[in-house]
Amino acid sequence: MRKKITVVGGGNVGASCAVNLALKELGDVVLMDVIEGVPQGKALDMLQMGPIEGYDVRITGANDYQPTANSDLVVITAGLARKPGMSRDDLLIANYQVVKTVTENVVQHSPDAILVLVTNPLDAMCWTAHQVSKFPRSRVIGMAGVLDSARFRTFIAEELKVSVENVTAVVLGGHGDTMVPVVRLSNVAGIPLTELIEKTKLDAIVDRTRNGGAEIVKYLKTGSAYYAPSAAAVEMVESILKDKKKVLPCAVYLEGEYGIRGVFVGVPVKLGAAGAEQIYEIQLNDDEKAALHKSAASVKELVDVIQSKM
Ligand SMILES: NC(=O)c1ccc[n+]([C@@H]2O[C@H](COP(=O)([O-])OP(=O)(O)OC[C@H]3O[C@@H](n4cnc5c(N)ncnc54)[C@H](O)[C@@H]3O)[C@@H](O)[C@H]2O)c1
Repeated sequence: MRKKITVVGGGNVGASCAVNLALKELGDVVLMDVIEGVPQGKALDMLQMGPIEGYDVRITGANDYQPTANSDLVVITAGLARKPGMSRDDLLIANYQVVKTVTENVVQHSPDAILVLVTNPLDAMCWTAHQVSKFPRSRVIGMAGVLDSARFRTFIAEELKVSVENVTAVVLGGHGDTMVPVVRLSNVAGIPLTELIEKTKLDAIVDRTRNGGAEIVKYLKTGSAYYAPSAAAVEMVESILKDKKKVLPCAVYLEGEYGIRGVFVGVPVKLGAAGAEQIYEIQLNDDEKAALHKSAASVKELVDVIQSKM
């Protein structure tokens, strides 16, 4: 049986996800968005790319959840971008409402699906989907670490003029500016980064990675990154649907791992057919532990804002 994948939110990230899913023939794709006609038009356009690219999957667009029924996996990219005059908290509550509504509908139509969250603020939106769906934590997974570590790897490869394929980066924590790159464990073909790049340069690369999203927003002005984010989400989907059991940095609900409980935080996770199949606990030094706890605390602050307004 071919897999069925729904992508909720047919904007930049969602549409790009749908294309990547089709290119990899991971399953039939339903692109769902509230804007009438847009998901249908984009889906038809993507379907017509099939004969050229040589993929053979069904791609349909929808404005309701009926066509998404019994999806194996749902990628949630629906959300609003910050508008002028809107505070971070306003955006948080607006996207909370979106993710809550989306999750309620997804649960009703696809009760066995695995959820991959993309909407920002990522870790708080994962918490929302987990709360609303009441799915086990293995089936609610957030995409952030794959993107953050891809950015880190890109900058390291550029600096050293080596293949990105040689660069392994370990990134923990919340998405974006609270991420915790574990430089000590990152390497190039097994050679520790600290032996290859001097500290000030490394600090600058870490800083650029933390602000990787903002750097792109500054160029684009009217939107945010979507090529790398969608590729990152699709790498996670592929590992799940093909049961590849890749170990990837993902946001998962921690229940005491790393001394953290009750929030979504990025940690290394084995992704297979059952979703988040295993969480790896790395032995961290005191500084790394403190940075991870600080990151978890900032995620908790957002969750507290949601809870205070619910
Ligand atoms: N986790 C990450 O690393 C990461 C990376 C990039 C973007 N993002 C986030 O992903 C989200 C999407 O980004 P984008 O660039 O595609 O934005 P976008 O504005 O291009 O697309 C968002 C889409 O969501 C749709 N939408 C809004 N409410 C909806 C609802 N209730 N049901 C279905 N669809 C709905 C909108 O109509 C729009 O088409 C944003 O929250 C962004 O911040 C996260």
